Order: sequence, then structure tokens, then C-alpha cells
Amino acid sequence: METTDEATMSKYYSIEPGNFILAGEAAEQIKKILKQLGIDAALIRKVAIASYEAEMNLVIHSVGGRLILNVNPQEITIIAQDDGPGIKDIELAMKEGYSTAPDAARELGFGAGMGLPNIKRYSDRFAIQSAEGEGTRVEMTFYLS
Ligand SMILES: Nc1ncnc2c1ncn2[C@@H]1O[C@H](COP(=O)(O)OP(=O)(O)OP(=O)(O)O)[C@@H](O)[C@H]1O
Ligand SMILES: [Mg+2]
Repeated sequence: METTDEATMSKYYSIEPGNFILAGEAAEQIKKILKQLGIDAALIRKVAIASYEAEMNLVIHSVGGRLILNVNPQEITIIAQDDGPGIKDIELAMKEGYSTAPDAARELGFGAGMGLPNIKRYSDRFAIQSAEGEGTRVEMTFYLS
């Protein structure tokens, strides 16, 4: 009996904290895969922006983590999950303009406090779970039909 769902694909990308050379590589790979799958260009743009913001948050704010891409005929889902330090006040973190980005990140143009609000804006479904001292998990879904 066929047990694997061949219509579903999954990719895993490890994200290194503080590495601005590698930063954006996972989002770039995701974009490439979606192009190969023949996904509509306007949708790819939204997914690419949201993935990039999620990846940068792991690079800048976390101790490291992973991006997971899942694609099935109905939707594209990206999960950004890290191992800490977590977010104390999620409502505050979701506010446009709120940022705790360090100077090193600000010097590179990050820290506008627009990443999380934009991920929410560009995705069809958005969920964030976090607690201080634990990891953060952001899940974004984009409908294909
Ligand atoms: N993975 C994470 N772990 C810990 N804190 C996070 C994480 N993601 C976001 N935050 C917190 O939420 C704040 C807001 O995130 P957001 O992505 O909106 O802005 P930013 O990363 O500071 O700036 P920008 O994304 O515009 O460059 C961050 O400054 C940080 O305090
Ligand atoms: Mg950000």
C-alpha cells in the first residue's frame, strides 16, 4: 500500500544565529523551489518576503533554529522555529515599529520593527507562539487556491 503522500513536499533549513553572510539563503532556496513548482509569481513574492523576514528574525534575535517549508496542492506553509530566548510580550513584538534589534543589525538596515507585522500581512494564516526562556514558533500559510 502506498503510504507516502507524494503530493506533499517538505524542506528543512538550519539557521545560524548572527551569521549575516549566510542570512537570507533559506528564503532564497524556498523562492527557487516555488519557482520550479510553477507557483504564481505574485504569490512567490509574498512568500519570499515573509520567509526572509522570518529567517532574519532567527539570525538576529534567536540562538538559532530552523525554517521548514511544506507544500501541498492546497497551501504553502513555512514554520520558523528557534531554541530561544523567546518573546516576553508577543502583542508588543507584533506592533509596527517595535524592535529590540542590536546596533550590529541596525547598521545593516534591520530593526525597523516591521518583520512580524509584514509576515502577518502577507500570509493568509499566521500564528506565533513564544514564551520567555523558551523558543519562538512562527507559522505562516499561503493558500494556493
Ligand atoms: N525569533 C525571535 N526570538 C526572539 N525575539 C524575537 C524573535 N522574532 C522577533 N522577536 C522580537 O520581536 C521584535 C519585533 O520583530 P520584527 O521582526 O517585527 O522587527 P525587527 O526584527 O526588530 O526589525 P525588522 O524585522 O523590521 O528588521 C524584535 O525586535 C524582537 O524583540
Ligand atoms: Mg525582524
